[in-house]
Amino acid sequence: MAHDNSPASPIAGRAGSALRGRIRVPGDKSISHRSMIFGLLSIGETRVEGLLEGEDVLRTAEACRALGAGISREGPGRWRIRGAGIGGLAQPGDVLDFGNAGTGSRLMMGVAGSHPITTTFDGDASLRKRPMRRILDPLAKMGVTVVSEAEGGRVPLTLRGPLETLPITYETPAASAQIKSAILLAGLNAPGRTTVIEREATRDHTERMLRHFGAIVEVTPHGPDGRSITLQGQPELRGADIVVPGDPSSAAFPLVAALIVPGSDIVIEGVMMNPLRIGLITTLLEMGASIERLNERDEGGEVVADLRVRASRLTGVAVPAGRAPAMIDEYPILAVAAAFAEGTTRMQGLHELRVKESDRLAAVAAGLAEAGVEHAIEGDDLVVHGHGIPARGGGRPVATHLDHRIAMAFLVMGLATREPVTVDDGAMIATSFPTFIPLMRELGATIHD
Ligand code: S3P
Repeated sequence: MAHDNSPASPIAGRAGSALRGRIRVPGDKSISHRSMIFGLLSIGETRVEGLLEGEDVLRTAEACRALGAGISREGPGRWRIRGAGIGGLAQPGDVLDFGNAGTGSRLMMGVAGSHPITTTFDGDASLRKRPMRRILDPLAKMGVTVVSEAEGGRVPLTLRGPLETLPITYETPAASAQIKSAILLAGLNAPGRTTVIEREATRDHTERMLRHFGAIVEVTPHGPDGRSITLQGQPELRGADIVVPGDPSSAAFPLVAALIVPGSDIVIEGVMMNPLRIGLITTLLEMGASIERLNERDEGGEVVADLRVRASRLTGVAVPAGRAPAMIDEYPILAVAAAFAEGTTRMQGLHELRVKESDRLAAVAAGLAEAGVEHAIEGDDLVVHGHGIPARGGGRPVATHLDHRIAMAFLVMGLATREPVTVDDGAMIATSFPTFIPLMRELGATIHD
């Protein structure tokens, strides 16, 4: 577990043979968290297939249990949740510890905060650094009391919900599906209509699942790139079946690995192609990547495809700021791809990267520096200069700061650099992609302690 005081376990990626084979990545993290949460808020039984059994999601499951859900694991990825229903949450007996999970903690603040119970939220050293004011501010408008908080509006913090939650209209100050979702989930227990306005559309899994479970949600365009989402409060959500598609944010790692390791040719099966999640694929295609979308089909309300990926000569591109919401978690691995491309890649408008599991802008830059990759941070932009040849690699172990995506990105980099790349810790990879190392090895990658 990525616990604050567990010893770090350094691991390295090194160049070897071409990557070959077919793999399936675990279920989508965003949908997996939400499956547990919607299961808790429904009446009756929710059955989930393909759940991501990573530490982050298991923490959310524990929290849902503490709030009154009956949760059982029926087999690998197969779970059943018996809900407590909106308005029916129990007072938890203990602190809810979300570990590394920003999504789990923030969404559950909306869920628990909108009920007349007192709930304490905590997490690991990474989560304790992350800003929660962005959730607490709209919740306060809905009548939620912040009983206590760590300095700067961080966890550990305690919320007490009102007897009756107030519906609000709120424009999110950042393009964040977590803020949007926390408000909509709180709005479930408010009478009347709760509206969230976002200037840039972010992942829409909450809206889709609200409808799937029986809520009435209206979505209208707002400005050139935004949306206005209105939820009719206090619906009766009914338990539903969910098939969780493969996580595009996890698929990103073997995908880029196959692009940069010479001679590679792989297939990643069943990857979710939700348009609000595939900014990385759009960008890599612009860079000249060979990525084929095969066998497109509908699975559980989302389009999925098998991705055939072949090693490719990449060219640097400018990535517009407006694409950030559709690839917010993919910048570390895009920076790795850019290091192997010919020319300059400019990734624009990355301010939100500073408040992820780590300050990802700084962490990526530090890792690139260790590997001898020319780069710069210019305002909120990350600029990477590639020369179309393998980067040097080597250097000191990359500092991961308890960030799974920093660890995976630099391990992938080491598969194609001249010298191996070591990361200072790989334990936290289990938060989102517990099978990352075995799957990469199955493709032929050399990743070792
Ligand atoms: C997520 C939203 C994103 C993303 C995170 C998952 C979600 O965070 O980085 O990994 O499931 O809603 P923000 O909403 O803070 O951008």
